[in-house]
Amino acid sequence: MDGNGRWAKARRKPRISGHKEGALALDRVMHYCREEGIEYLTVYAFSTENWNRSRAEVTALMNLLSSYIKEKSDTLLKNQVRFKVIGRRSDLSKSLQKSISQLEEKTKDGQFTLIVALSYGGRDEILRAAEKYSGGGEEAFSKCLDTADIPDPDLIIRTSGELRLSNFLLWQAAYSEFYFTDVMWPDFGREEFDKALNSYKNRERRMGSRKGVRK
Ligand code: FPP
Repeated sequence: MDGNGRWAKARRKPRISGHKEGALALDRVMHYCREEGIEYLTVYAFSTENWNRSRAEVTALMNLLSSYIKEKSDTLLKNQVRFKVIGRRSDLSKSLQKSISQLEEKTKDGQFTLIVALSYGGRDEILRAAEKYSGGGEEAFSKCLDTADIPDPDLIIRTSGELRLSNFLLWQAAYSEFYFTDVMWPDFGREEFDKALNSYKNRERRMGSRKGVRK
């Protein structure tokens, strides 16, 4: 969900107002996904590197996440959304950890899965998985990752003109398709979503084999 800060700066607003607008964009995109029959959406909300931002921004982001969980809890449940967090959750405050676990438990039977990457880094996740891994190959290793019960992403969208993966789902992205756009995350709307989806639909996925894989 990249570009919140620049979106705010361009409007002479504080960075946090960009993040707030970003949370609204997330609700929109979740809605579009469901209209399209997509079952899993993963958003990169806070990376292991984001702890290096100013204390004020880190606090404001954590508060925004806490209030999102509190305010949306009933709506997510009502809309059959299964909420799940990936990342090094022990870095988060005890109270945030508690409200995350409660919401995960409460929504565990939801049909659409919203995965929020929090204090997340792909390398960190792989290192933590390596500590649990006791052999068995790729599939067994995948089960040691935070995403154990989640399929690998078909499409990864990066907004705001950056052309990097930035430590996002490193293991899981092995065969993912990518879509890059200059649009800032708070401006990400139906038009750009459709462009990303159409671009994905027109690609032939071989997943390493020579025969095309049908989507
Ligand atoms: C990246 O933009 C965005 C973030 C680090 C925070 C994203 C968090 C939210 C949208 C909060 C809501 C999330 C949930 C799950 C409710 P940036 O700050 O790096 O923007 P910049 O590159 O323009 O500075």
